[in-house]
Amino acid sequence: MARVKDFVDTQNFTKEELLSMVEVGRLMKKTIKEGHALNILYHKSLGMIFEQSSTRTRVSFETAMTQLGGHAQYLAPGQIQLGAHESLKDTAMVLSRLVDILMARVQKHESITDLAKYATIPVINGMSDYNHPTQEMGDLITMFEHLPEGKRLEDCKIVFVGDATQVCASLMMITTKMGANFVHLGPKGFQLRENHIKIAEENCKVSGGSFLITEDVDEALKDADFIYTDVWYGLYEAELSEEERMGIFYPKYQVDMDMIKKASPHVKFMHCLPATRGEEVTDEVIDSEYSIVIDQAENRLTAMRALLVYFMDKMEETTKVCHEKLGE
Ligand code: CP
Repeated sequence: MARVKDFVDTQNFTKEELLSMVEVGRLMKKTIKEGHALNILYHKSLGMIFEQSSTRTRVSFETAMTQLGGHAQYLAPGQIQLGAHESLKDTAMVLSRLVDILMARVQKHESITDLAKYATIPVINGMSDYNHPTQEMGDLITMFEHLPEGKRLEDCKIVFVGDATQVCASLMMITTKMGANFVHLGPKGFQLRENHIKIAEENCKVSGGSFLITEDVDEALKDADFIYTDVWYGLYEAELSEEERMGIFYPKYQVDMDMIKKASPHVKFMHCLPATRGEEVTDEVIDSEYSIVIDQAENRLTAMRALLVYFMDKMEETTKVCHEKLGE
């Protein structure tokens, strides 16, 4: 089977392929933390199209390119012709001649699939209204780093609390693909939809994992190893007002200490960030010893390095160079 050119959806990759990215990401993290330079992407250029604001995605991609000896260009709305005087197709074809790899954060998922279709270089999805695959990779690395003692990821229960955002959908995709046990605790009308359920079923059939969608707090949180939440605004144009979202989700779906106490004693709290403190999570939880949200943010960088190396076809060279530098 031909190698997949683009990172639009983790569903296009096998568990083994995704784990190979995790492995090289962790190896590069160790190598760089030990102070070694990695010039794997020397003279390579990344184009970064952002139709939405970003802190973690933008900064981690740019830092990753710099650390690997390459260069990243921030292409913001209003600063390039896309959307005003130039079509997505022309933009994709032209940028394919000017940079080596593209990433884009888009409003509509169709835009990222079109970019991937017309670009001749690899395209990475930096988040759409459907999914957030680079977040998935960072979260996967973070969960591996924080596995409960004696447990594999396949033994873990991962509970997403709140609105079925693209981060919720992505967490379902990656955890069920890995063979873990995923639960979405959210109110009817804001739960994962039929298309998501189909993916979860397909993944679990292959991986042996499980999934559950429920409004029952006690059932969801019993023995949970990871509790994850995201903002309640909704998606892009469908954003809810503060009054609307508090009416729907508060207080039942706010991650507070009472929720944490219903889970396993070793539970870890996760959030993709940015967080609206006082809405989906309390200060007490996000600032507590249970919280691993800053490790998660750091691992966006771990993931971006891995994705860049994978899609620039530098996996073998990177592995060899890292082992040499580490004297292994
Ligand atoms: N989690 C995440 O994607 O953060 P940014 O929106 O800041 O990139």
